[in-house]
Amino acid sequence: MQQDFALRDGDFRKISSLVMEATGIVIDDRKRAFIHARLGRRLRALGLANFGEYRQVLDGPDGDTERHVLLNAITTNHTSFFREPHHFEYLAKTVVPAIIRNKTESKRRLRIWSAGCSTGEEAYSLAMTLADFQLPLANWDIKILATDLDSSAIAHATAGLYDAERAQSIPPQFRQRYVTVQPDGRTSMNTVLRSPITFKPLNLLNDWPMRGPFDIIFCCNVAVYFDKPAQRRLFDRCADMLKPDGWLVVGHAESLQNLTDRFDLVGRTVYRRTK
Ligand SMILES: C[S@@+](CC[C@H](N)C(=O)[O-])C[C@H]1O[C@@H](n2cnc3c(N)ncnc32)[C@H](O)[C@@H]1O
Repeated sequence: MQQDFALRDGDFRKISSLVMEATGIVIDDRKRAFIHARLGRRLRALGLANFGEYRQVLDGPDGDTERHVLLNAITTNHTSFFREPHHFEYLAKTVVPAIIRNKTESKRRLRIWSAGCSTGEEAYSLAMTLADFQLPLANWDIKILATDLDSSAIAHATAGLYDAERAQSIPPQFRQRYVTVQPDGRTSMNTVLRSPITFKPLNLLNDWPMRGPFDIIFCCNVAVYFDKPAQRRLFDRCADMLKPDGWLVVGHAESLQNLTDRFDLVGRTVYRRTK
Protein backbone atom coordinates (compact mmCIF):
# COMPACT_ATOMS: atom_id res chain seq x y z
CA MET A 1 0.00 0.00 0.00
CA GLN A 2 1.32 3.48 -0.87
CA GLN A 3 1.88 5.78 2.07
CA ASP A 4 0.48 9.30 1.96
CA PHE A 5 2.79 11.61 3.86
CA ALA A 6 1.36 14.72 5.50
CA LEU A 7 3.23 17.89 4.55
CA ARG A 8 3.01 20.07 7.65
CA ASP A 9 3.37 23.88 7.51
CA GLY A 10 6.83 23.82 9.09
CA ASP A 11 8.08 21.19 6.61
CA PHE A 12 6.62 23.13 3.68
CA ARG A 13 8.20 26.39 4.84
CA LYS A 14 11.57 24.75 5.36
CA ILE A 15 11.51 23.21 1.88
CA SER A 16 10.27 26.34 0.13
CA SER A 17 12.89 28.56 1.77
CA LEU A 18 15.63 26.08 0.93
CA VAL A 19 14.50 26.06 -2.72
CA MET A 20 14.18 29.85 -2.84
CA GLU A 21 17.65 30.34 -1.42
CA ALA A 22 19.28 27.82 -3.72
CA THR A 23 17.50 28.55 -7.00
CA GLY A 24 15.46 31.75 -6.79
CA ILE A 25 12.33 29.69 -7.51
CA VAL A 26 9.34 30.93 -5.53
CA ILE A 27 7.27 28.17 -3.96
CA ASP A 28 4.06 29.69 -2.67
CA ASP A 29 1.03 27.93 -1.18
CA ARG A 30 -0.39 27.16 -4.63
CA LYS A 31 2.56 24.84 -5.24
CA ARG A 32 1.96 22.85 -2.07
CA ALA A 33 0.27 19.89 -3.78
CA PHE A 34 3.04 19.82 -6.39
CA ILE A 35 5.77 19.72 -3.70
CA HIS A 36 3.83 17.11 -1.81
CA ALA A 37 3.56 14.87 -4.89
CA ARG A 38 7.16 15.31 -6.07
CA LEU A 39 8.76 14.82 -2.66
CA GLY A 40 6.32 12.14 -1.51
CA ARG A 41 7.86 9.97 -4.21
CA ARG A 42 11.31 10.77 -2.90
CA LEU A 43 10.36 9.89 0.69
CA ARG A 44 9.04 6.54 -0.51
CA ALA A 45 12.27 5.88 -2.42
CA LEU A 46 14.30 6.62 0.71
CA GLY A 47 12.00 4.49 2.90
CA LEU A 48 11.22 7.42 5.21
CA ALA A 49 8.12 7.63 7.40
CA ASN A 50 7.38 11.35 7.19
CA PHE A 51 8.65 14.80 6.15
CA GLY A 52 10.17 15.30 9.59
CA GLU A 53 12.57 12.45 8.83
CA TYR A 54 13.23 13.98 5.45
CA ARG A 55 14.24 17.26 7.10
CA GLN A 56 16.68 15.30 9.24
CA VAL A 57 18.24 13.88 6.07
CA LEU A 58 18.52 17.41 4.66
CA ASP A 59 20.25 18.58 7.84
CA GLY A 60 22.40 15.45 8.19
CA PRO A 61 25.76 14.38 6.74
CA ASP A 62 24.18 13.56 3.33
CA GLY A 63 22.38 16.91 3.27
CA ASP A 64 24.33 18.36 0.33
CA THR A 65 23.62 15.38 -1.88
CA GLU A 66 19.98 15.27 -0.85
CA ARG A 67 19.50 19.00 -1.49
CA HIS A 68 20.80 18.39 -4.99
CA VAL A 69 18.25 15.57 -5.52
CA LEU A 70 15.50 17.74 -4.05
CA LEU A 71 16.25 20.63 -6.42
CA ASN A 72 16.35 18.29 -9.41
CA ALA A 73 12.99 16.85 -8.29
CA ILE A 74 11.19 20.16 -7.95
CA THR A 75 12.45 22.04 -11.03
CA THR A 76 9.85 22.25 -13.77
CA ASN A 77 11.58 20.94 -16.86
CA HIS A 78 8.70 21.30 -19.26
CA THR A 79 10.06 22.13 -22.71
CA SER A 80 9.76 21.07 -26.34
CA PHE A 81 11.49 21.42 -29.70
CA PHE A 82 10.65 24.78 -31.33
CA ARG A 83 8.52 25.60 -28.29
CA GLU A 84 7.79 29.13 -29.47
CA PRO A 85 8.40 28.95 -33.22
CA HIS A 86 8.48 32.77 -33.64
CA HIS A 87 11.74 32.86 -31.61
CA PHE A 88 13.52 30.63 -34.11
CA GLU A 89 12.04 32.57 -37.01
CA TYR A 90 13.47 35.73 -35.46
CA LEU A 91 16.89 34.12 -35.23
CA ALA A 92 16.73 33.03 -38.88
CA LYS A 93 15.17 36.16 -40.37
CA THR A 94 16.75 38.93 -38.28
CA VAL A 95 19.69 37.86 -36.14
CA VAL A 96 21.71 35.77 -38.59
CA PRO A 97 21.24 38.24 -41.50
CA ALA A 98 22.31 41.11 -39.18
CA ILE A 99 25.48 39.24 -38.28
CA ILE A 100 26.17 38.51 -41.93
CA ARG A 101 25.72 42.21 -42.75
CA ASN A 102 27.72 43.62 -39.87
CA LYS A 103 30.70 41.38 -39.56
CA THR A 104 33.83 42.52 -41.24
CA GLU A 105 36.27 39.91 -39.94
CA SER A 106 37.05 37.03 -42.24
CA LYS A 107 35.60 34.58 -39.73
CA ARG A 108 32.07 35.33 -38.54
CA ARG A 109 31.54 34.58 -34.89
CA LEU A 110 28.17 33.69 -33.43
CA ARG A 111 27.68 33.00 -29.73
CA ILE A 112 24.35 31.85 -28.32
CA TRP A 113 23.42 30.95 -24.77
CA SER A 114 20.40 28.84 -23.90
CA ALA A 115 20.10 29.70 -20.19
CA GLY A 116 17.82 27.22 -18.40
CA CYS A 117 17.93 24.76 -21.29
CA SER A 118 16.22 21.89 -19.44
CA THR A 119 16.59 18.65 -21.42
CA GLY A 120 18.14 20.37 -24.46
CA GLU A 121 15.31 20.73 -26.96
CA GLU A 122 15.78 24.53 -27.14
CA ALA A 123 19.51 24.25 -27.87
CA TYR A 124 18.96 21.60 -30.56
CA SER A 125 16.21 23.74 -32.12
CA LEU A 126 18.72 26.61 -32.29
CA ALA A 127 21.29 24.31 -33.88
CA MET A 128 18.73 23.06 -36.45
CA THR A 129 17.76 26.63 -37.34
CA LEU A 130 21.42 27.51 -37.92
CA ALA A 131 22.26 24.26 -39.73
CA ASP A 132 19.49 25.03 -42.18
CA PHE A 133 21.37 28.10 -43.43
CA GLN A 134 24.09 25.77 -44.70
CA LEU A 135 26.58 28.47 -43.81
CA PRO A 136 30.09 27.96 -45.14
CA LEU A 137 31.35 26.57 -41.82
CA ALA A 138 34.99 27.23 -42.63
CA ASN A 139 34.14 30.95 -42.40
CA TRP A 140 32.02 30.68 -39.30
CA ASP A 141 32.77 30.12 -35.64
CA ILE A 142 29.46 29.13 -34.06
CA LYS A 143 29.05 28.08 -30.44
CA ILE A 144 25.94 27.42 -28.42
CA LEU A 145 26.28 27.20 -24.66
CA ALA A 146 23.34 25.47 -22.96
CA THR A 147 23.08 25.42 -19.17
CA ASP A 148 20.67 24.33 -16.48
CA LEU A 149 20.59 23.91 -12.74
CA ASP A 150 19.16 20.40 -13.01
CA SER A 151 22.01 17.95 -13.54
CA SER A 152 19.71 15.12 -14.67
CA ALA A 153 18.23 17.42 -17.34
CA ILE A 154 21.76 18.24 -18.51
CA ALA A 155 22.60 14.52 -18.68
CA HIS A 156 19.51 13.95 -20.85
CA ALA A 157 20.40 16.92 -23.06
CA THR A 158 23.95 15.67 -23.53
CA ALA A 159 22.71 12.19 -24.50
CA GLY A 160 20.53 13.87 -27.15
CA LEU A 161 18.01 11.03 -27.30
CA TYR A 162 14.28 11.72 -27.27
CA ASP A 163 11.10 9.64 -27.28
CA ALA A 164 9.18 9.54 -30.55
CA GLU A 165 6.41 11.60 -29.00
CA ARG A 166 8.78 14.44 -28.08
CA ALA A 167 10.42 14.37 -31.49
CA GLN A 168 7.00 14.98 -33.08
CA SER A 169 7.41 18.73 -32.59
CA ILE A 170 10.50 18.84 -34.84
CA PRO A 171 9.28 20.22 -38.19
CA PRO A 172 9.34 17.51 -40.89
CA GLN A 173 11.99 19.24 -43.04
CA PHE A 174 14.39 19.27 -40.07
CA ARG A 175 13.49 15.75 -38.99
CA GLN A 176 14.57 14.44 -42.35
CA ARG A 177 17.92 16.19 -42.33
CA TYR A 178 19.25 16.48 -38.82
CA VAL A 179 18.01 13.61 -36.66
CA THR A 180 18.06 9.83 -36.82
CA VAL A 181 15.42 7.39 -35.60
CA GLN A 182 17.14 4.63 -33.64
CA PRO A 183 16.10 0.95 -33.80
CA ASP A 184 14.39 1.35 -30.41
CA GLY A 185 12.20 4.16 -31.83
CA ARG A 186 13.97 7.00 -30.04
CA THR A 187 15.24 9.97 -32.01
CA SER A 188 18.89 10.98 -31.74
CA MET A 189 20.44 14.31 -32.68
CA ASN A 190 22.97 14.14 -35.53
CA THR A 191 26.58 15.32 -35.11
CA VAL A 192 25.94 18.50 -37.08
CA LEU A 193 23.60 19.58 -34.26
CA ARG A 194 25.71 18.31 -31.39
CA SER A 195 29.05 19.75 -32.41
CA PRO A 196 28.32 23.46 -31.84
CA ILE A 197 26.60 22.84 -28.45
CA THR A 198 28.20 22.57 -25.01
CA PHE A 199 25.87 21.50 -22.21
CA LYS A 200 26.89 22.46 -18.68
CA PRO A 201 25.26 22.56 -15.26
CA LEU A 202 24.92 26.13 -13.99
CA ASN A 203 22.81 27.77 -11.31
CA LEU A 204 21.83 31.19 -12.66
CA LEU A 205 21.92 32.63 -9.13
CA ASN A 206 25.61 31.78 -8.76
CA ASP A 207 28.68 33.22 -10.51
CA TRP A 208 28.73 32.80 -14.28
CA PRO A 209 32.10 31.41 -15.27
CA MET A 210 31.87 32.23 -18.98
CA ARG A 211 33.23 35.43 -20.43
CA GLY A 212 30.83 36.02 -23.27
CA PRO A 213 29.88 38.25 -24.86
CA PHE A 214 26.93 36.56 -26.51
CA ASP A 215 25.09 37.72 -29.62
CA ILE A 216 21.85 36.31 -28.29
CA ILE A 217 20.63 34.79 -25.05
CA PHE A 218 17.57 32.58 -24.86
CA CYS A 219 16.36 32.71 -21.26
CA CYS A 220 12.86 31.36 -21.69
CA ASN A 221 10.44 30.20 -19.05
CA VAL A 222 13.00 30.36 -16.25
CA ALA A 223 12.58 33.82 -14.69
CA VAL A 224 8.84 33.23 -14.49
CA TYR A 225 9.55 31.07 -11.42
CA PHE A 226 11.61 33.80 -9.70
CA ASP A 227 10.48 36.74 -7.60
CA LYS A 228 10.85 40.30 -9.00
CA PRO A 229 14.23 41.13 -7.40
CA ALA A 230 15.73 37.89 -8.72
CA GLN A 231 14.24 38.56 -12.19
CA ARG A 232 15.66 42.08 -12.19
CA ARG A 233 19.10 40.83 -11.25
CA LEU A 234 18.99 38.01 -13.80
CA PHE A 235 18.04 40.27 -16.73
CA ASP A 236 20.59 42.87 -15.69
CA ARG A 237 23.29 40.23 -15.67
CA CYS A 238 22.08 39.02 -19.07
CA ALA A 239 22.57 42.58 -20.39
CA ASP A 240 26.14 42.54 -19.07
CA MET A 241 26.76 39.19 -20.75
CA LEU A 242 25.49 40.37 -24.17
CA LYS A 243 27.21 42.39 -26.86
CA PRO A 244 26.16 46.07 -26.69
CA ASP A 245 23.43 45.46 -29.28
CA GLY A 246 22.76 41.79 -28.48
CA TRP A 247 19.34 40.14 -28.19
CA LEU A 248 17.54 38.61 -25.24
CA VAL A 249 14.68 36.19 -25.85
CA VAL A 250 12.26 35.35 -23.04
CA GLY A 251 9.21 33.12 -22.66
CA HIS A 252 5.61 33.91 -23.61
CA ALA A 253 4.59 34.75 -20.02
CA GLU A 254 7.65 36.87 -19.29
CA SER A 255 8.33 40.58 -19.72
CA LEU A 256 11.14 42.97 -18.89
CA GLN A 257 8.71 45.83 -18.33
CA ASN A 258 9.34 47.61 -15.00
CA LEU A 259 12.34 45.38 -14.37
CA THR A 260 15.13 46.91 -16.39
CA ASP A 261 15.59 49.80 -18.82
CA ARG A 262 18.56 48.23 -20.55
CA PHE A 263 16.54 46.66 -23.37
CA ASP A 264 14.03 47.69 -26.03
CA LEU A 265 11.27 45.34 -27.09
CA VAL A 266 11.97 44.58 -30.77
CA GLY A 267 9.77 41.54 -31.43
CA ARG A 268 7.36 39.17 -29.73
CA THR A 269 9.16 38.52 -26.39
CA VAL A 270 12.43 39.49 -28.09
CA TYR A 271 14.49 42.35 -26.62
CA ARG A 272 17.58 44.18 -27.79
CA ARG A 273 20.18 45.58 -25.44
CA THR A 274 20.41 49.38 -25.55
CA LYS A 275 22.55 50.12 -22.45
C1 LIG B 1 10.36 25.28 -17.82
S1 LIG B 1 12.04 24.92 -18.14
C2 LIG B 1 12.37 25.93 -19.56
C3 LIG B 1 13.18 25.21 -20.61
C4 LIG B 1 13.38 25.98 -21.91
N1 LIG B 1 14.14 27.18 -21.71
C5 LIG B 1 12.06 26.30 -22.56
O1 LIG B 1 11.64 27.44 -22.57
O2 LIG B 1 11.42 25.37 -23.07
C6 LIG B 1 12.83 25.84 -16.83
C7 LIG B 1 14.24 25.38 -16.54
O3 LIG B 1 14.87 26.34 -15.69
C8 LIG B 1 15.75 25.65 -14.83
N2 LIG B 1 16.05 26.49 -13.67
C9 LIG B 1 15.25 26.87 -12.66
N3 LIG B 1 15.92 27.61 -11.77
C10 LIG B 1 17.18 27.72 -12.24
C11 LIG B 1 18.36 28.36 -11.76
N4 LIG B 1 18.37 29.05 -10.63
N5 LIG B 1 19.48 28.24 -12.50
C12 LIG B 1 19.48 27.55 -13.65
N6 LIG B 1 18.41 26.93 -14.16
C13 LIG B 1 17.27 27.01 -13.45
C14 LIG B 1 14.97 24.39 -14.48
O4 LIG B 1 15.83 23.36 -14.01
C15 LIG B 1 14.29 24.06 -15.79
O5 LIG B 1 14.98 23.10 -16.54
